[in-house]
Amino acid sequence: METVFAGISLACPLVNAAGSCKTIEEVEQLAKTPVGAITVGSITMERRELNVGDTYWMDPEGRYSLNSLGLPNGGMPYYEKALPRMRELAHATDKPLIVSVAGFSPKEYHALASFAAQWADQVELNLGCSNVWGEGGQKTIFSYEPVLVDEVLQELKDPFFSTTVRVTVKLSPLPPNLLSQTAEVLNGSRVVRGVVASNTWPNGFGWDGTKTAITPGGGKAGFAGPGFKGIALGQVVQFRELLRSDIDLMGAGGVQCGKDVQDYRLAGAKAVGINTAFANRGAKVFSNIVQQYVELCPA
Ligand SMILES: Cc1cc2nc3c(=O)[nH]c(=O)nc-3n(C[C@H](O)[C@H](O)[C@H](O)COP(=O)(O)O)c2cc1C
Repeated sequence: METVFAGISLACPLVNAAGSCKTIEEVEQLAKTPVGAITVGSITMERRELNVGDTYWMDPEGRYSLNSLGLPNGGMPYYEKALPRMRELAHATDKPLIVSVAGFSPKEYHALASFAAQWADQVELNLGCSNVWGEGGQKTIFSYEPVLVDEVLQELKDPFFSTTVRVTVKLSPLPPNLLSQTAEVLNGSRVVRGVVASNTWPNGFGWDGTKTAITPGGGKAGFAGPGFKGIALGQVVQFRELLRSDIDLMGAGGVQCGKDVQDYRLAGAKAVGINTAFANRGAKVFSNIVQQYVELCPA
């Protein structure tokens, strides 16, 4: 069961994927589960409110989820107070603390990564949020522009990030040409120790009766859940073929049962993240899935 992902040791390969834990109470709740690490965030420089209207939806047939939360979080002022306690709570149960950060420019990623590194055992750069809508429309999704991915990593070129901080990047699902360009950028970086594949597929859609299932963005929202598994698994397979062997992978997308964990591990993922199943089934989902996974593993 133990695994090492991007420089941190996990007693269990299952973690909560970013977006599912943002407060001290939520860290406390996860500390009581068997997750191998606790992921907090994504956090931004400023406090952000939840988008207005319907922001999370599960297809009634259980095939996929949509979300457009818009990165709600307390911002740096809140986390400056909360992260020391979050770290304490996670460490009290031998769980490393992963902090996911989301900037709106390469400089913001630098500021947020430096900030989070004070308390995090690993800093995850979320380069794939698709649910921030402003006056100019949808905010840039860094994952889809390898030049921007490179710019973010260049901002972190100070040896502090390559030696002391364990940095990973979380990406949106990429088509083959962008995936290989991105792998080239990551292979050329001394900073990145791991890749989380994947964040949600941008601009999915669903009808709830005759109204859009999600309110912001005209209903366009991050697509995840069971129907997303084959896509995210394919990202893990492709990245494992293209990335340097010392860059680890975490799979995320549609994990619902022990077999899903095994599938990601077989594809080369060291760890597996879970969000939709946690949102739908609550914290007991982690012990259920771990139990199923243990039963599948050879003794
Ligand atoms: C409600 C919700 C909120 C999310 N918020 C974030 C976030 O803040 N940062 C992030 O990197 N990913 C976020 N994600 C993406 C998930 O972490 C995960 O990568 C994706 O949903 C695929 O996993 P799943 O199929 O288990 O949901 C969110 C997903 C959901 C469903």
